[in-house]
Amino acid sequence: MKSKAAILWEVGQPWSVEETELDDPHFGEVRVKLASSGLCHSDDHGKKGDLPTGLPIIGGHEGAGVVEAVGPGVRRLKEGDHVVMAFMPACGHCRWCAQGLSMLCDHGAIIMEGLPITDQIARVHARGQGLRTLSMLGTFAPYTVVHEDSCVKIDDDIPLEIASLVGCGVTTGFGAAVNRAQVKPGDTVVVVGTGGVGSSAVQGARIAGAETIVAVDPFEFRRDQAKVLGATHAVASMEEAMPLVTELTRGVMADKTIMTASLMTGDMLMPLMLLTRKGGRACLTSVASPTVLSADIVLVDLILSQKEIVGNVFGGCNPFSDIPRLLSLYKHGLLKLDELVTKTYPLEQVNEGYDDLLSGRIMRGMLTFD
Ligand SMILES: NC(=O)c1ccc[n+]([C@@H]2O[C@H](COP(=O)([O-])OP(=O)(O)OC[C@H]3O[C@@H](n4cnc5c(N)ncnc54)[C@H](O)[C@@H]3O)[C@@H](O)[C@H]2O)c1
Ligand SMILES: [Zn+2]
Ligand SMILES: [Zn+2]
Repeated sequence: MKSKAAILWEVGQPWSVEETELDDPHFGEVRVKLASSGLCHSDDHGKKGDLPTGLPIIGGHEGAGVVEAVGPGVRRLKEGDHVVMAFMPACGHCRWCAQGLSMLCDHGAIIMEGLPITDQIARVHARGQGLRTLSMLGTFAPYTVVHEDSCVKIDDDIPLEIASLVGCGVTTGFGAAVNRAQVKPGDTVVVVGTGGVGSSAVQGARIAGAETIVAVDPFEFRRDQAKVLGATHAVASMEEAMPLVTELTRGVMADKTIMTASLMTGDMLMPLMLLTRKGGRACLTSVASPTVLSADIVLVDLILSQKEIVGNVFGGCNPFSDIPRLLSLYKHGLLKLDELVTKTYPLEQVNEGYDDLLSGRIMRGMLTFD
């Protein structure tokens, strides 16, 4: 069928919205008619080459919509089902999925390639070429063909315009606090970078019972929004956070620190670790370029203060259990999602959406489709 999509043809170019030809779903796949797609910073990393992807590629990995057509061999979905597409697929059977670690599913090894799990043959075409799809989703398009392992069925009463947020950003941030940093009641938590992911870490920390949550972001709008979502204090930089956290904790420093800034570089580890107390834990969530091979750290402080540094992919979450759980928190008013979406855009304005994101004018931008 004819469709359209925002395509990245070369690193550094803007997203190009143009007509595409979309194949029917193959074995194990469904066609989803999208309602919305969040604008996550990771797509911009792909665009700038900080996070290399195969090209040409359709952007977008945070989408929700309705199953419109079902391919052969699909077992869990039917036409009309409402789904969130998770940026990390879960096969359910690999060594990691079998242990409840679906965020590490072996399928993840090929998500940056952006070609279908089953046969690595493109399902979308433009200018006579096969197109890849980011995270094997490509949600910057009104229609996409995806494997059912990427689709989590959700209740019909969850607004699809908002549900896409749990396909990446909210789940990653919430899980950064709850699963990876393991925030406990009474903790002092510092969240560095409070965009879509970081402000969800703020929410995760609040829901986990943190007493003090310090939001760190150079943009005033982001700091103010972080307070709406649960931050108790907000400052513009890690340097500014240092005397504040020292005072708030009487010199002990934060139990947990969470790095969710736009892009992590090696020099950002040292101030983060200095903000972390002895025996405390730092959770690294921001993407870093694969060319970064070293980071500043006082090694003896890490060792003799028994500090921990943990990584984080998809908030340490299992999409098939955690996405419905987070949407249930939303339904019960505990997890705020509506407050995260500052502005919606038609597909044609995807580049404007990213301009707004990068200049801190919005929290999460959202593409909406008819
Ligand atoms: N690990 C994962 O599974 C995963 C999943 C999704 C996104 N990410 C990554 O998380 C990061 C955040 O994504 P987002 O969509 O929330 O981005 P965003 O652009 O909405 O927010 C990032 C925020 O970081 C702030 N910032 C930049 N440098 C800073 C610094 N030195 N100190 C404090 N704040 C700083 C920016 O002002 C901005 O508000 C990105 O690197 C993204 O690629 C990782
Ligand atoms: Zn994302
Ligand atoms: Zn798996």
